Amino acid sequence: MKIHIADHPLITHKLTVLRDERTDSPTFRRLTEEIVTLLAYEATREVKVESVNVKTPVAMAQGLHLAKPKPVVVPILRAGLGMLEGMSRLIPTAEIGFLGMVRDEKTLQATTYANRLPEDLTGRQCYILDPMLATGGTLVAAIEFLLAKGATDITAICILAAPEGIAVLEKAFANSKVAIKLVTGALDEKLNEHGYIVPGLGDAGDRLYGVV
Ligand code: URA
Repeated sequence: MKIHIADHPLITHKLTVLRDERTDSPTFRRLTEEIVTLLAYEATREVKVESVNVKTPVAMAQGLHLAKPKPVVVPILRAGLGMLEGMSRLIPTAEIGFLGMVRDEKTLQATTYANRLPEDLTGRQCYILDPMLATGGTLVAAIEFLLAKGATDITAICILAAPEGIAVLEKAFANSKVAIKLVTGALDEKLNEHGYIVPGLGDAGDRLYGVV
């Protein structure tokens, strides 16, 4: 598994405001989108493209456009929805699938409660959006879901990751032949006894959308 931890002062600056408990929801949502756009730049470095020629007002020019089938972006509901706009801004023609997953706060086990994805993901590049890689349970379940539909190229984009979650992911897919990549804004210190990332930013879904 390839892991890319963003090392850019603009991302760290925006993350610092995101972490601050005084940051309100509208600012939190806007910053999340901005961070995702910056992370998406790295995450899509190997997006499939094809050569094309275009006529400029001056001469013919050689260029690239996104290859078909187009990539599939999969936000994990609920908090991953807050990342969708930032991703779509960079890659507006991608298709969007939805996966609803919830983790039991006691057992920390993830279960799927909703799924709106193409039946066949063979040959599709998939980008999973999930802000917090904590225990790894949700992301492992989401990746397994996409693998079962034939995906062979999966990149997870997370705002923050914990070492425990990365270890779980690496173990789960150690023998996988499928290309799996993780792009994260920062690698934090650890998880606390409730499965929250430390220092983290708290509950990403609640900070994006309020407590419901
Ligand atoms: N999910 C969150 O929203 N925050 C954490 O710290 C861990 C999981």
